Order: sequence, then structure tokens, then C-alpha cells
Amino acid sequence: MANPGKNPAVRLEGPDGDGIATVWIDCPDSKVNTLSVDLLPEFEALFSKIGADSRIKAVVIASGKDAGFIAGANIDDLGLVRTVAEGAKLSKNAQDSFRKLEKLGIPTVAAIHGDCLGGGLELALACTARVATDHRKTKLALPEVMLGLLPGGGGTVRLPKLIGLANALDMMLTGKNIRASKALKLGLIDAAVPAGKLLESARKLAVDLAHGKPAHAKKKPNVQEEVQTFLLEGNQLGRRVVLHEARKKVLKQTKGLYPAPLKILDVIGKGTYEAEAQGFGELLLTAESHGLQHLFHAITALKKDNGPGTEGVTAPKVTRVGILGAGLMGAGVGTVLADQGYTVRLKDRDHEAVGRGLDYARKVFGKARKRKVYGDAGYDERMARISGGTDYSGFGRCEMVIEAVFEDLGLKQRMVDDIEKVTQVGGIFASNTSSLPIADIAAKAKHPERVIGMHFFSPVEKMPLVEIIVTPKTAPEVTAATVAVARKMGKHVIVVNDCPGFYTTRALVPYMTEAIFLAVEGFALESIDEAATTHGFPVGPITLMDEVGIDVGLKVMKVMKEHYHDRMQFPPDISQALIDEGRLGRKNNKGFFKYENGKSVLEKGEKVVDETVYKHLPNGAATQAGNLPEMAERMILGLCNEAALCLQDGTLRDAYAGDLGAVMGIGFPPFEGGPFRYMDRIGVKTVVEKLKALEAKHGKRFKPCQLLLDKAAKGERFF
Ligand code: NAI
Repeated sequence: MANPGKNPAVRLEGPDGDGIATVWIDCPDSKVNTLSVDLLPEFEALFSKIGADSRIKAVVIASGKDAGFIAGANIDDLGLVRTVAEGAKLSKNAQDSFRKLEKLGIPTVAAIHGDCLGGGLELALACTARVATDHRKTKLALPEVMLGLLPGGGGTVRLPKLIGLANALDMMLTGKNIRASKALKLGLIDAAVPAGKLLESARKLAVDLAHGKPAHAKKKPNVQEEVQTFLLEGNQLGRRVVLHEARKKVLKQTKGLYPAPLKILDVIGKGTYEAEAQGFGELLLTAESHGLQHLFHAITALKKDNGPGTEGVTAPKVTRVGILGAGLMGAGVGTVLADQGYTVRLKDRDHEAVGRGLDYARKVFGKARKRKVYGDAGYDERMARISGGTDYSGFGRCEMVIEAVFEDLGLKQRMVDDIEKVTQVGGIFASNTSSLPIADIAAKAKHPERVIGMHFFSPVEKMPLVEIIVTPKTAPEVTAATVAVARKMGKHVIVVNDCPGFYTTRALVPYMTEAIFLAVEGFALESIDEAATTHGFPVGPITLMDEVGIDVGLKVMKVMKEHYHDRMQFPPDISQALIDEGRLGRKNNKGFFKYENGKSVLEKGEKVVDETVYKHLPNGAATQAGNLPEMAERMILGLCNEAALCLQDGTLRDAYAGDLGAVMGIGFPPFEGGPFRYMDRIGVKTVVEKLKALEAKHGKRFKPCQLLLDKAAKGERFF
């Protein structure tokens, strides 16, 4: 019996005079449609009914939700699976339902608007044809790989047949969204139509198919494409070559740390529903998938958090934003704001700096135009929204000012004072400091309730996180408005309480300082990076120092030293000597690694250490190769201990924010789900034991915090 006691999620309408019936999908009590275990029996019952009704000549499947078609499988169902067999069964159930749809014996057309993801797309793939709206909200994707899974509803079998092996691999291995125009080119859909014409077009196609006409012809490949497709995909040997090359690429990109893309390749190689179900079941129980699912839950939970005291608060609308400092960060923030429709005014000390800021925007928008994200009109519109100058003209009407001048408390306080004088009453002052306490920046403000921290990460247009920092004085309206702006910029948001370094910088410092301790002990610089990347960090700490700027890092380190010297330990300060030598990192082509014109110098595909940097280290050269897991553990456990301390002292308002912030902001391995999930996985008791052993060997910086000690004693977990 399907869905007992609940409103049905699927409804049959018709058939009409032409024999076309419509299946409406409209999951009750939810904004979006998801494919839950409950929904499949409803589908099957409906398909049986359709099969038994000889009046029905063709079927259109459409969504009753404005939000989209189907957003994917219901992730809550996944959490209930305990064995591989149970996981495989989940996949097999979906396959069986979709096969029933495929074998109805009459044409079926999916009418797609909005999200058509995962199981939603697999359902559409089982239809005879697909029509999608050309609206920008329409996205088709198989994103299972991002949850450490594979498409388990027949997608690995049907997609390669429909769009070819190489295109199918690209979709399944990246999980990326495909818009309607691209989907049409790939042959993933049969027509792209304006939103107002979706049902009419799908119905018309259903009528045509019922009369034996073929679905809209896919673009015919040219001879070269045809030969290439035959050579690579049309025969067993060619397919093996494609899969082998894909495996090599995956191994290089993931260092073998992610089982899902490799399993996808195995399963596609076998090409059967049985292999798909078995692979799905196996992946579902991997630690990596659990970590990625955890991250998904963190994202969902934090979307509802607008910061302390914001419940019921209406966020004042922000449309115009002033930016102080058009350097790396100011320019990046201004660019993303202008992209999202805000009117932006940059201010810097001289016209050259302002010009460089505007050039940054030109470069980012120019790249998007080249990738055809928008055309000339889109580019011009965006550039028209961003302007700059050396005075405060244009700032008076800004509802918000974001400050990104040098990391200097006195300067930042002066900025607050200036802005209070020039902006309208009620304006927000958001500081993009990376370490200074927001309360100190607001110390001399007439309106400290309007001062807040808005910590972006570099490069702003790529990094997905904004850490918002509130002081006890920050007004909830200010918090709500700042969170709204960050979300409109397309960022994940965590809201944390104020302290020097807040959450992300505090968690990052032990990781970075440990890297320097290792360097001082004589470990080769590239092996320190390798220790981190083989554990899943996207870049190693030494590379990160070059990216952020050794000078910027030193300023942050000074603030952290001033506040935390009693419990943190800092390695001998080599940064000043590096800076004195003009070694600032990638930005001036001189860092720990070698650069030319801002690009890394590579040998055999690997970055090359600038050996002359060793003269600043006590041994004058690399003297140890090192045990990578041990080195990684020192860096990671220091980070975890500090994260736990942030939760203990209330900087973090919950552990989910700690996990999301570490993964999205500082590159903690996503498949671990974040430091708190990682500590749960290996056991808090084990973490404490390891920290104590490191404390005995290296000193107080590894002293486990009280929260960890308490949790270990009680046998508790974070989640
Ligand atoms: P930057 O040196 O590239 O830019 C700072 C800009 O501020 C310069 O163009 C400078 O001319 C300008 N400036 C100085 N005094 C000014 C004044 N009185 N009025 C207007 N403009 C003035 O530095 P970056 O990297 O952009 O950093 C800015 C802030 O962002 C710092 O507080 C830094 O700690 C923080 N931050 C930096 C990150 C990074 O990865 N570089 C990440 C997150 C935060």
C-alpha cells in the first residue's frame, strides 16, 4: 500500500481527447519533489493503472511544483541503510520502477522545468523523450558523485546510450549542472522551449510520438565526430581506452581518495543494472560517502541559520555597497557583488589602485563572457554597476560598506569613523579583517551595533564561504542583512561569535604553524605539502602561504601571537626575513616555490621548491624526507583541537558550522565531512590520546581542550 494516510504525491489527469494522460508529481508538505522510498510504490501503482487503460495513447510526466521537476533522491532514506545488500536493494527498487515506466508500451514525455537532478533525471531518462524549458533555473545533472555515490536508478546504463560514453562520463564524474541549451546539443533533451510553452510542447510531442512520428531529430554529427565516436565508443576496445584514460585522470585529480568516481567507471565498464545496484550499495557504506552526506546535512541545516537573535527580524534591503580598499579582496568582493546585481562603489588611495580593482572585474566578467555565461550585454551591464574613486563620493547612499584595507587596527578604526560621517543613518559597516576582533574595530564607533565582520576567502569569486562575525553589540537586523547579502552572492554562510581570528583563522593557524615547525625540523618543503594533499587537502600549507601572501600571513600571525601566546606555540619567525628579502609569495613571483609571471614553475608536472629559501631555515637544507601520515596528523590534530576549543568557548555556535567552515573556507578534506565529523570517525578518545602523546613530545600547543577531555571521558560524539 503506497504512502498510507498521506496525500498522494502523484496524480493522473486525463486522458484527454487525443489519448494523452498527464502524471503530476507533487510531493505533499514539501517545496520540492524528491524521490523517496514512499514515492516509488505510488509510481508503480500509477504505471499499472496507465498500462491497464487502453484509452491512454501517450503520457506526459510533469511537476506540480514551481521550484522544479525532481531535486533527486530523498537523502534521509540513505541514512537508514546498514548493509550493502540494503543499499543495493534501494537502487534496485528505483531501477524496477523506472523500467516499468520504460516498458509501458506507449510513448512517455518528461516535461522539465527547474531542477531535474539525480533520480529525477534518471526517471526522465526512462521516458521516451524529454522537453525542458530554456529558463535559467532549469538544470539537469547526476550529482551523486558529490555525495560519494553513483546514479543508482539506471542512469549509468541509460545515459551513455543516450549521449555517448565521453559525455556521460563527464556528467557523472563531475556531477555538474547542464543547462537546457547544452542539454539539447548533447541530445539529453529533445526540445528546449520557453517556460510558458512547456506543457503544450510536451503534449504535442506526446501526440506526435503516439502517431509514430520520431522525437525531434538530434543534431547530426559531422563526419569527423562520427568517426571519432565510432573509434572511441562504438567498439569494445575503444570503450576500454576511454574508460582507462578517464581512470588515469580521476586518480591524478583525487589521489585515489574518492572511491565513487572509480566505482562509476567500473560500473559503466560492466554496463548492467546489477552492477549499478551492487556498486551503489557498496558506495553507500563507505566512510567517504558518509562524510559527504554529513556535509550535505550541514549545508541544509545552516541555510536556516541567519545568526543569533534574527528570528522574526526583517533584514533591511541592501542594493548599493561601498568597498574600502580595491586590493585583492576588495576587488574580488566588488566583482561578485556587481555580478549579483548590486551597485558597487570602490574607494582606494590612488587612481592606480582603483584601476587595478576595476581591471579585476573586467578580467572575471571577460572570462565568463568567453565561456558564454552571458554575452556583450551581460558584460556591459555588470561593468556599469561597478565604479570607483579616491574619495567618498557615491558612499552616501550605500546601505552597506565592506572594508578591505590593510590588516591594521588603527586604519580600520579610522575607516569606521569616516564611514559614520559619510553614509546614511543605519548603514552597515562590514569588515573583511582576517584576524582582528570586530569589537576592537568597533571600539570607537558611535554605532557599534552597525559593525559586523564579513570574512571572505581568496579568490572571492571562487571560494564558496563567507564567515560572518557578530559582537554582543551587533544588531540582529545588521546580522540578517549581512547574511542575506552573502547568500545572494552565492556563498555558504556561517555566523560565529567574535574573538581574534574568529573560527576559520583560529583553526587554520595551528595547521600552518605546524607546517613551519616541520620545515624548521628539516622536513622537505614539498613533503610537508604532500603530507596534507595525500590526506585530501586541496593544497598544502606551504603552497597556501605563497597564495595568501607571506606578508599577509605575518600580519595575521602577529595578531594571533598577541592574543594566544599563552597556549599556542609559534615557530621561530622566519617570515620577516623572507619579506625583507622581497619574498612575498606568488604575487611577486618569489616564494617558497618558484614562479614565473604569476604561474608556478613545473618540472614533470610538479611544483618546484626555490631551494634558496632553505637558507632561512636552521638546517640550511632539507634534511629529512619524513613520514607523511605522521606529519599530516600533527597538522590536522592541531586544527581539530582548536576547532573544538572554538566550540567550547562559544566562538562556534554549533559543530555543523565548524565542519562547513573548515571544508569550504580552509580546505579541510570534504570526504571527512569536517574536523568534528573526523573526530567522531576516529573517536574522540583516540584524538585525546594522540594529542596527549604529541603534547608530551612537542609541547603545550597539543594540549587537548577541556571539551575533548570531557567528551572522551563520557564516550560522547559530536553528532
Ligand atoms: P591588499 O593589500 O591587496 O589591499 C588592500 C588595499 O587597501 C590596497 O589597495 C590599499 O591601497 C588599500 N587602502 C589602504 N588604505 C586605504 C584607505 N585609507 N582608503 C582606501 N583604501 C586603502 O590586501 P588584501 O589581501 O586585499 O587584504 C585586505 C583585507 O582583507 C585585510 O584586512 C586582510 O587581512 C583581509 N583578508 C585577506 C585575505 C587574503 O587572502 N589576502 C583573505 C581574507 C581577508
